[in-house]
Amino acid sequence: ALKLVTIGGGSSYTPELIEGYIKRRDQLPIKEIWLVDIPAGEEKLNIVGAMAKRMVKAAGLDWQIHLTLDRQAALKDADFVSTQFRVGRLPARIKDERIPNYYGLIGQETNGAGGIFKAFRTVPVILDIVHDMQTLCPNAWLINFTNPSGMITEAIKTYGHWDKVIGLCNVPVMAMLSEPELIGKTLDDLTYKFAGIDHFHWHRVWDNTGQEVTMQIIDKLFGDDDAGLPTNIFDVPFFKDQLANMKMIPCGYHRYYYRQEEMLKHGLEEYANPEGTRAQQVTRIEEELFDLYKDPNLDYKPKQLAERGGAHYSDAACEAIASIYQDKKTHMVVSTLNQGSVPDLPSDHVVEVSAQVGAAGAVPMAFGHFQPAERGWIQLMKNMELVIVEAAATGNYGLALQAFTMNPLIPAGATAKHVLDEMLVAHQKYLPQF
Ligand code: NAD
Ligand code: G6P
Ligand code: MN
Ligand code: MN
Repeated sequence: ALKLVTIGGGSSYTPELIEGYIKRRDQLPIKEIWLVDIPAGEEKLNIVGAMAKRMVKAAGLDWQIHLTLDRQAALKDADFVSTQFRVGRLPARIKDERIPNYYGLIGQETNGAGGIFKAFRTVPVILDIVHDMQTLCPNAWLINFTNPSGMITEAIKTYGHWDKVIGLCNVPVMAMLSEPELIGKTLDDLTYKFAGIDHFHWHRVWDNTGQEVTMQIIDKLFGDDDAGLPTNIFDVPFFKDQLANMKMIPCGYHRYYYRQEEMLKHGLEEYANPEGTRAQQVTRIEEELFDLYKDPNLDYKPKQLAERGGAHYSDAACEAIASIYQDKKTHMVVSTLNQGSVPDLPSDHVVEVSAQVGAAGAVPMAFGHFQPAERGWIQLMKNMELVIVEAAATGNYGLALQAFTMNPLIPAGATAKHVLDEMLVAHQKYLPQF
C-alpha cells in the first residue's frame, strides 16, 4: 500500500492531483495521502484538504488524507513525494514580476530576473527536503513540479545528490493534448519527440507510417492561434518563416525570446493597468477558487481551475507515479539526466526530453543534434541554468551577477546589477544563502 506525500499541499492545484489519483485508482494501491504545508499556508491547506477528502469519499475510496505542517512526520516511509510549493507564496511572485517591470524588463515567473530569483528562493528549501528524505524515506521517488522545474530538478541531482527524481511541466502535455486534432489525428496515431530544457524545448512529430508531420502542425498552429498555449502566456504569434526554417515546434515560452519586444510591451501594459501582472491576476483567480473549495457540497474539480496556467499537470504527476509503480514504460516528457540524449548539452546534467518512464525511472530517448541556431540558444540557456543553480546553492554574488548578465531577457549593465541588488533586498527573508 502506498504512502504519497505532497509538499505545498495547500496549493489550489491539489484537487487536480486528487482527481488524477482517483482516475488511476486501479493502478495505485493508495493507503495514505499526506498534504504538507507551512503555517502561512495552513488556512489554504485546511480548505483544499477538506475538499480533497470530499473528492475521495465521493469516489467511494477509503484513502486516508492527512493534513499537516509537520514535514518530517509526513516524509517518514513515504513511497512518492511530490513537490508543488512556492517559497514566499504569491506576494514573492508579485515582486519577481513587478520589480523587473519597474525597470523596463520582462517580469515572469520562470524567465528573466523573476525566474532567477524564484530559483534562488527555492533551492535552499528543496535541498532541505532532500536532506530529510535521505533518512526518512531513502527509497522514495521525488516528483518535482515546483518551478523553475528544470533548475530545481538540476539542484536536486547536482547539489542534493538525489537520483530518484523526475521533474515535470504541463506544457508538453498540453501540446500533445491539443495538436493531434489540428491534423485530424489522435495522439495514438502520432510519435512525439521533445528536447531542450524546461520552458525552452522544441518538439517534432511523426505519423504511424513514419512520415514527419511537424510542418503540417505548424501550418495549423498559425490558423488556430493558441492551441496548447497555457493561459498565463500572452499569445504573440511566432514568425512563420523562422519556424519553417527551424522545422521544429517551439514551446509557448519561446515567445519571450523570439518575440521579446512584443512580450515586454504586453507585460508592461499589464503592469501599468489595474489588472496588474500575472501574479496579481492569479491572486484574484485563487481567491475565487478557494471560495468555491469552501463549499461543503463541492466534491469535484471545478472548471475554474482551468484559468490557471498549470491545467492538466496531474496528467503528468499522477501518470509519472503510476508509470514508475507499474513499470509502464510510458512516453513522457520529463526533466531528467541527459545521458547523451541531447548530444549538444552536457550528458551529466538535467534536460527536458522525451523519455520512457518505468520502474527504473526515466530513460531518455535520443533526439540528436540541433541546427546551429537552436544549438546556440540551448547551450546558452542550459549553461545559464547551471550558473543560476550554483549561485543559488552557494550564495555567490559574483555568480548571481553572471547569471543576470547571461540572461537574454536582461540587458547587461548598470540596470541589471541594480535590479539584482534590489531583488536581493526585497527577498532577503527567503535567501539565507546570500
Ligand atoms: P501557491 O502559492 O499556492 O503555493 C502552494 C503552497 O506551497 C502554498 O499553500 C504555500 O503555503 C506552500 N508553501 C510555501 N512554502 C512552503 C514550504 N517551504 N514548504 C511547504 N509548503 C510551502 O503556488 P501554486 O500556484 O499552487 O504553485 C505551486 C508551485 O507549482 C509553484 O512553484 C509553481 O511555480 C509551480 N507550478 C509548476 C508548474 C509546472 O509546469 N511545473 C505549473 C504550475 C505551477
Ligand atoms: C504554466 C507552466 C508553469 C507556469 C504556470 C503559471 O503552464 O507550465 O510552469 O508557472 O503555468 O500559471 P499561473 O496560472 O500560475 O500563471
Ligand atoms: Mn511549466
Ligand atoms: Mn496577459
